[in-house]
Amino acid sequence: MTVQGSKNAVLPILASTILIAGKTTLRNCPDISDVDCMCRILQKIGATVTKTGHEICVDASGALQSRLPAEEVVRMRSSIVLTGALLGRLGQASFCDPGGCVIGDRPIDLHLKAFARFGCQIRREDDNFLTVFAKRLNGVQIRFPFSSVGATQNAILCAVCAKGETVLTGCAKEPEVVSLCRFLNGAGAKIEGAGSKTIRIEGVKKLCSTEFSIDADRIVAGTYLFGCIGCGGSVLLNQAPWSQMEAVTVAAERMGAQCTVSEEGLFVQAPVRPKSIGHLQTGPYPEFPTDLQSAAMAVLTMAEGISYIEENIFENRFRIAEPLNLMGAQIVLKDGQHAVITGVEHLHGEQMDACELRGGAALVLAGLAAEGESFVTGQHFIERGYENICRDFRELGARITSV
Ligand code: EPZ
Repeated sequence: MTVQGSKNAVLPILASTILIAGKTTLRNCPDISDVDCMCRILQKIGATVTKTGHEICVDASGALQSRLPAEEVVRMRSSIVLTGALLGRLGQASFCDPGGCVIGDRPIDLHLKAFARFGCQIRREDDNFLTVFAKRLNGVQIRFPFSSVGATQNAILCAVCAKGETVLTGCAKEPEVVSLCRFLNGAGAKIEGAGSKTIRIEGVKKLCSTEFSIDADRIVAGTYLFGCIGCGGSVLLNQAPWSQMEAVTVAAERMGAQCTVSEEGLFVQAPVRPKSIGHLQTGPYPEFPTDLQSAAMAVLTMAEGISYIEENIFENRFRIAEPLNLMGAQIVLKDGQHAVITGVEHLHGEQMDACELRGGAALVLAGLAAEGESFVTGQHFIERGYENICRDFRELGARITSV
């Protein structure tokens, strides 16, 4: 099966098209509801957006409204990145508190501190919107106290057309930061160091029309990789971005899988029964991604032996432990950060509710690996990030339908 384009790469890139007073063409965009939501926001602030299959064209010449629509912003955390783009284009942005998956508090303090460093003022309006504004953005030095993907991206968007040089240290090194910078450089930005802790940006007067192809989704590829380990057999994940997946393939191999990379993508051969993994901890890239922690947990419930998971990014990412235990798993949560999993031979089918994106996909995976039938409700959460999880798993031999 072919891995879809990356959600977390395309969303900030779509947001950043606001900085370009002209046309942008993006290829290999995933057909998911979060992308539709981002396109609706762009349209509501004045951009023209045309979607044809996996290609999206944005003409942001008319994107001149600085107030972001609340209805969409509360649905999607990544809408916060529109703020940096609006500041870069218009010097002003108004927004309500961004929403997103219920995986933790997810404050925006680092974003607001970065805006303030660029010389912005921040005002809370009567309707609880925040307005951030500046006469002119000036290049600055910012040191992030810890890694934040969104805050790094927002600071880059402020800096691209600011006056003078900006140096960001303590930056997130995620591939999605790198692809945003590749996209912006293609439009005329001057950014160096993306993918390292220090990023230097020389402000330019304006960005120009460009075309770009979105990377394949490392989290979707990882979901199907763990699906294969949970269910057995083998799978070729065409176009999987394996060079961005080292921590994931290392974990898969510790579970007993064999991962082979080739020009086509990533080939995974599952073990007869997965092995426990000792200690698995999530962390900022290049460490094991929090977005695959649930999928790994689902597999480890059926592994031989005891595994420990430490979640270091979000404080509410063990919500699937309860439904997995209903399926016969033995997971003990020490606190919101530590889980002990004693592998059992089989899970049994259950009725489950997906209450967030990645946890929902992991419940589907557990249902496929379990004996008997499972029902997962809350499909709309999964559709935020997976084009068609039923189609993909069917292609891999599963019996799964969307009802
Ligand atoms: C991005 O979210 C991804 N979203 C998330 O993917 C991913 O889980 C996360 O990075 C971590 O890899 C998108 O790219 C659209 P952060 P982001 O700022 O940027 C804390 C998925 O399932 N923090 O790197 O919002 C925060 O609470 C999603 O696809 C602050 O305290 O994450 C977290 O503990 C969900 N203050 C940590 O930093 C801030 O101002 C890292 O968050 C900002 C963040």
